[in-house]
Amino acid sequence: MTKKIAVLPGDGIGPEIVAEALKVLDCLKAEFGLQWETEPALIGGAAYDATGTPFPAETLALTQQADSILLGAVGGTKWESLDYSVRPERGLLGLRSELELFANLRPAILYPQLVAASTLKPEVVSGLDIMILRELTGGIYFGKPRGRRINEQGEREGFNTLVYSESEIRRIAHIGFQIARKRNQRLCSVDKANVLECTELWREVVIEVGQEYPDVTLSHMYVDNAAMQLVRNPKQFDVMLTDNLFGDILSDCAAMLSGSIGMLPSASLDKHGKGLYEPIHGSAPDIAGRGIANPIATILSLAMMLRYSFDDEINARRVEQAVIAALDAGYRTADIDCEGARKVGTAQMGDAIVAALRASH
Ligand code: IPM
Ligand code: MG
Repeated sequence: MTKKIAVLPGDGIGPEIVAEALKVLDCLKAEFGLQWETEPALIGGAAYDATGTPFPAETLALTQQADSILLGAVGGTKWESLDYSVRPERGLLGLRSELELFANLRPAILYPQLVAASTLKPEVVSGLDIMILRELTGGIYFGKPRGRRINEQGEREGFNTLVYSESEIRRIAHIGFQIARKRNQRLCSVDKANVLECTELWREVVIEVGQEYPDVTLSHMYVDNAAMQLVRNPKQFDVMLTDNLFGDILSDCAAMLSGSIGMLPSASLDKHGKGLYEPIHGSAPDIAGRGIANPIATILSLAMMLRYSFDDEINARRVEQAVIAALDAGYRTADIDCEGARKVGTAQMGDAIVAALRASH
């Protein structure tokens, strides 16, 4: 059966990196018989410029009826002065929330070819393979009340609410334990239970859910310590379970362990496994349009789509192997460049990966 993929390039480098993932997709169709059709839609600043909203109704409708979604990036300096309600980021947050994509998987893997690209010492990061599982539709990102007001002293005041219901914690915890089960059976839940009641509940509920998974070793860590441990000894982790905000921060930190933020893919899944796939990095307005962005995180996101939404481990691995082959051949975009490498731009990196994929047939 033909699968329908909604393609949302978004802003900044988004269209450039998505174009490379689509080349990979075309190759999978031509060489390995994948039956996928794609349909583009607007999101973020591009959607705001064209329609006055960062999340048009047509985009919501398409993503609801598509089997899966591939997204580039949203945001940019151009839209920073807009009201919050129409900022490009609202498009992405709206999509996550409307489709209930609560489980965000952010694997941080250091490919051996990129050990030198990491800012950390080789012995600290080589062989790194951790999974950050971030809750994506709750917490302080969506909690109410939120806003800005003038307080009784006549001062401006800003406020947000960190709130999680038991059921929200429970469902993400289950996913965490299930992922850990398929990996090295270790789950570290990150919280700030010494200060925040909401995360004290988080810890309590995670412990309760853990009773159903006696084969998984559960540990807990305060978020400040977790940030430190990620750069001190990241290989101690297997799966890290975090709330929305902590996961946002820790996954950027973990990205640097893998050489560059341009390397990290992500999957955001609903309870049926339908997903949105996007690189974890932003729209990088400073390098947009220059053809130098790293497309690997987006291409690896496509591999995650194959694995998690379509249960196609064989083709997921093919794509990942093609990325490794391109790295082995010495191709490097600017963010992962090193001495003696073949420095290439976005399109050449995409072509090198496609060539490796084709050669693997
Ligand atoms: C991410 C991004 C987003 C987030 C932004 C673009 C809204 O930083 O996916 O990590 O904060 O979740
Ligand atoms: Mg982020």
